[in-house]
Amino acid sequence: MNVLVTGGAGYIGSHMVRVLLRAGHAVTVLDDLSAGHADSVPAGTRLVQADVRARDVVLPLLRDAKIDAIFHFASRIQVGESVRDPRLYYRDNLAAGVALLESALDAGVKRFILSSTAAVYGDPIRVPIDEDHPTVPVNPYGDTKLMLERVLASYARAYGLGYVALRYFNASGADVAAGIGERHDPETHLIPLVLEAALGKRELTVFGEDYATPDGTCVRDYIHVTDLAKAHLAALAYLDAGGASGAFNLGTGQGHSVREVLLCAEKITGRRVPYKVSARREGDPPILVASADRAKRLLGWVPERPLLDDIVADAWAWHTRA
Ligand SMILES: NC(=O)c1ccc[n+]([C@@H]2O[C@H](COP(=O)([O-])OP(=O)(O)OC[C@H]3O[C@@H](n4cnc5c(N)ncnc54)[C@H](O)[C@@H]3O)[C@@H](O)[C@H]2O)c1
Repeated sequence: MNVLVTGGAGYIGSHMVRVLLRAGHAVTVLDDLSAGHADSVPAGTRLVQADVRARDVVLPLLRDAKIDAIFHFASRIQVGESVRDPRLYYRDNLAAGVALLESALDAGVKRFILSSTAAVYGDPIRVPIDEDHPTVPVNPYGDTKLMLERVLASYARAYGLGYVALRYFNASGADVAAGIGERHDPETHLIPLVLEAALGKRELTVFGEDYATPDGTCVRDYIHVTDLAKAHLAALAYLDAGGASGAFNLGTGQGHSVREVLLCAEKITGRRVPYKVSARREGDPPILVASADRAKRLLGWVPERPLLDDIVADAWAWHTRA
């Protein structure tokens, strides 16, 4: 198939590109490089450097490349920033997503796969969190993703657009063989922060040790970035086979506390990970763990590297690459 990957120069998008190429798809990347890296796009893959809102670029691109499906990763990704400066998120996530969909509908694209997030659920009232859990986001980042999901649901009903919204929990790890890994600036995700602390490159802060969890630190569900990408491939096959549009969680269903991640990193790296403890951060739920049963059942997807040890080992191999 001919596919477009928006945000394909970013962390998850660049892993998606590798998975799509290995599956034999023809890939075009659309990325404005506001946060991505041109060298994360493999040689020989077309990179169009433009904003997803640039209709004068995107509409002819979709038509000329005869794009069958869009994987939409391009987005701002920082929860804290979305609270401090929400207009960025309504403009660059919600409005930009709607503008991209304008071009997609006008070009006749029939399949759309959205990077959504566990942040659509807000503070969980039960864990593991399944897709029927109430969606009450507690920050503008989660709000804009949920709103875009609702736009997609309306367009599916009215225009026959097939869509899958994939609600990721915590993406981590790296495609070591492809030489790509997590490179955010600023970095806000725990595993790269822990590994950079192990390398002496930064100070690590653990926010809160007094949560109602077994060791007092927050519990999250870490999923290998390549497993995440493979779920998107399964979602494309599902839509192609006539599967109903909707939302799916992507996680392993296993929770790990911040302290467990630290201990795991010390084991894998053979180094001490120094850290200081400070007060809880506002808006951090104690436990976020997915039920990914729907993805397993309907997409036929099973994570291949679900163990935290493997996820951290791959991230470490990338962080210490020559
Ligand atoms: N990293 C996670 O754990 C996580 C968890 C849940 C959801 N997500 C979602 O996954 C997606 C990818 O996240 P990531 O960690 O790879 O982020 P990233 O910042 O590494 O990648 C985003 C890419 O999109 C590009 N981009 C941003 N705005 C654009 C625009 N208007 N036009 C064109 N390109 C634009 C950036 O240059 C960058 O290359 C995002 O939609 C994010 O919300 C990520």
